[in-house]
Parts: sequence; C-alpha cells; structure tokens
Amino acid sequence: MLGLHLEYSPAKCTAIRGDDHLHYDDNLTAERPSFVTHLECAYTGEHHAADEVHNLSRAGKPLLVRYDLAGVSRALSKEALARRSPDLWRYRELLPVRRTQDIVSLGEAMTPVIGLPRLAAKLGGGELLVKDEGRLPTGSFKARGLVMAVSMAKAFGIKHMAMPTNGNAGAALAAYATRTGIRTTIFCPEDTPEVNVSEIALQGASVYRVNGLIDDCGKIVGAGKAKVGWFDVSTLKEPYRIEGKKTMGLELAEQLGWELPDAIFYPTGGGTGLIGMWKAFAELEAIGFIGAKRPRMIAVQAEGCAPMVRAFEAGEEHAPRFENAYTIASGIRVPQAIGDFLILRAVRESHGFAIAVSDDAITAAIDEVAHEEGFLLCPEGAATYAAYKQTLADGRIGRHERAVLFNCATGLKYPLPPVHRMLDMHKEIDFAAL
Ligand SMILES: Cc1ncc(COP(=O)(O)O)c(C=O)c1O
Repeated sequence: MLGLHLEYSPAKCTAIRGDDHLHYDDNLTAERPSFVTHLECAYTGEHHAADEVHNLSRAGKPLLVRYDLAGVSRALSKEALARRSPDLWRYRELLPVRRTQDIVSLGEAMTPVIGLPRLAAKLGGGELLVKDEGRLPTGSFKARGLVMAVSMAKAFGIKHMAMPTNGNAGAALAAYATRTGIRTTIFCPEDTPEVNVSEIALQGASVYRVNGLIDDCGKIVGAGKAKVGWFDVSTLKEPYRIEGKKTMGLELAEQLGWELPDAIFYPTGGGTGLIGMWKAFAELEAIGFIGAKRPRMIAVQAEGCAPMVRAFEAGEEHAPRFENAYTIASGIRVPQAIGDFLILRAVRESHGFAIAVSDDAITAAIDEVAHEEGFLLCPEGAATYAAYKQTLADGRIGRHERAVLFNCATGLKYPLPPVHRMLDMHKEIDFAAL
C-alpha cells in the first residue's frame, strides 16, 4: 500500500490567474529561504560562486548546486512540509530560487503515483507503481527542469534563451519563457513529432527543424552563443534544470512515506532526471528525512540508441556517441550525453544496471498497459514497463521488489494507432455484433 502522508486542504489548492498574480498557494506567495551555498563542478569538485550566471564549470563539465543541508534540516520538518500546498515549490529550501517574485509558474502540481495491480499480479511481481509525469504543464516532466531554469533566468535578467530539444523540453522552455517575457530560439531534429514542434511555436518560440540529431542541434546552440548572445539552456549545460528534476525524487520519497522503493526504472536520454533523483536522495538523507536505503537506479534506453547500456556493460566511465541512433521513443534518442559519467556513477553506486529494449517491445508495452490498466503511457514510459517485464523474467528484478516506473510524458502527445470501426446511421445497426 502507498503510505500517502500528504494533507491536502481544499482551501490551499493551487489556482493560477492569468495576470501572474498567484493566489491560494502559499508556496508561491510566502518568502522562504533557499539554502544554496555554492555550485560545484561535478567532475573536479571545484567551487563556483552562487548567484552568478553559469553554464558549464571551468573544466567544461556540469555544475551541481550545493546547499547548507544542516541549515535546511533545522529550518524544515516533515510535518511543516506536509502542510504546504501540493506542488514542487513546497521544497523551496532545497531549490535555488531565492525570491518568490522570480517564480514563473504554470501550476506544477505533484504528480500521482499510480499502481498497476493487475499487471503486477499477471507477471507475478511485487508492487508495481508508475509516477505519472504527464500531468505537468506542457504534458511532460520537462516542466520541472524548465520552470527552475526559467525562474533563475528571470532572477538573472536573461533576455534570450536557446536550446536543442527532442520536443518536450522545447515545449516547456517556450511556455515558461513566454510567460515571463524571455525570447526563445529552439532547434529540433527534423523528425521531431509534429505536435511538439507545433506546441513550441504556438507557445511563442522561434523553432527550427534541423537535418541532424539532438547533439547536432546542440552544436548550433553552442555556436550561436557568441554570435547572437543567447543563453544556452541545453541539458546539464546550465545548473538549474537538474534542480527542478530533482523534485521527482523528493516527491516520490514523500509520497511513499519517506520509504524509497527497491528499484526505479527511468527512461534515460540526457539523464537529468536520474542524476537529479540520485542527488535528491543524498540531500534527503543529509537532512535526516530518509535513511541509507536507496533504490537500484535502472537506466532504460532503446536498442537503437543505447550509449549508456554499452558503456555500463563495458565498465567505462564515459559513453561514446551512438552512431545512427533511432527509436520511436524520441525523448530518449540522445546519442551522446554530457552527463554520461554522472548517469553511470548513479547507476553503479545504486547497484542498478542499464538495459536496452526494442521498439517492438515499446509498442507492445503501450498496448498492454493501456488495454489492461486503462493507462496510456508515452513510448519512453512504455520502455520502462518493457524493461521491468524483461528483468522480472530474467531474475534481475526480484518477485518481491517494489518498483517504480517513470512515465515522463502524457501518452496523448504521441501518434496513436488509428481506429477504423465505422457505423452507418442510415442502415440498421446489428447490436448483436457490437
Ligand atoms: C518523454 C521523455 N522521457 C524521457 C526523456 C529523457 O529524459 P532525461 O533527459 O532526463 O534522460 C525525455 C527527454 O526528452 C522525454 O521527453
């Protein structure tokens, strides 16, 4: 059973008004301190000053935000947290935004954890849960990272942001940046789903299709930094998206009554979410909210784009580019990730593993979960179900383990199989055949 330890009070439901005046949600109105102390190079440990605009560290690696965790543990109790409104801003002490006025919100509600009891029984596994990130603004978990990056950009007075995207991140950037009047320029691979490109454009960004993959788009963003003067908000090339993604781990821990599951299956592209959750668990232990128990972190990729799986199996620290990458799960079609060593480190430290699933297994998983549980997964989320099934069968996941799958976007954002059943109103309907 889920140990839901949240006190929902109807009077505190999040309500967002068009004028950016944020009512009824104390998380968006109360001044609460951020305990940020500095930023740290994830590779060398070198310190960088907080409250300054940063991309990568001086060593060219991702920067991680560090907090005065002793201060957080004095300032925040589980009981105080439980009384706050149910959105990601409830974790303000562990987030980088210092001033409430800089929060750019579209209502980042806590996402539900949903059981798949029928499938668990059918497969003979332990408790099987899905954290459904499709409920967030713009229909994906990218809202978590981008709400943080854009709020920090607002605090720094940044006027123009640019990013490469497989779709969902661009949509979230466009939405939040437009909401606060920041200009955005976005580049996506040529075959990015139409719905993503359209929503990016509609939400106010200049969007271009590029005849290459996401890392090629990233090169254009990098080259334009000096020429155009935009701020590069690529995955892990700015420090705050990971802080937003971290809230998946904070939320999950709180929703499960501060008892982490045995395994987390995460669809891994750039890996921000996996790295962010791993960071969240360390911070929660440091402030005394959880113990030393950690879930095994399982990085799920597609067979057609599996750089982390190759590197994991080869025992490497870094993952070379995966050439000719292809998968129907476009969100995890990332041939090379700048945070490769952080993904692999988290997977290994947790005693987890990396696994690739086929596109056919992804399609079958969408079908199975929708038909049996009434739950429409996105292809990336379906990859985690396919991986769960495969590893339960081969024994890598135990029959009594509690597993959480991440469905990172709503299944409604993706092309769905057509339905051809048609009734002719002018003929007699054969109800016996229906
Ligand atoms: C639906 C979906 N799932 C998973 C991912 C991969 O996320 P991450 O970059 O955190 O590995 C993406 C990224 O675009 C996505 O859109």
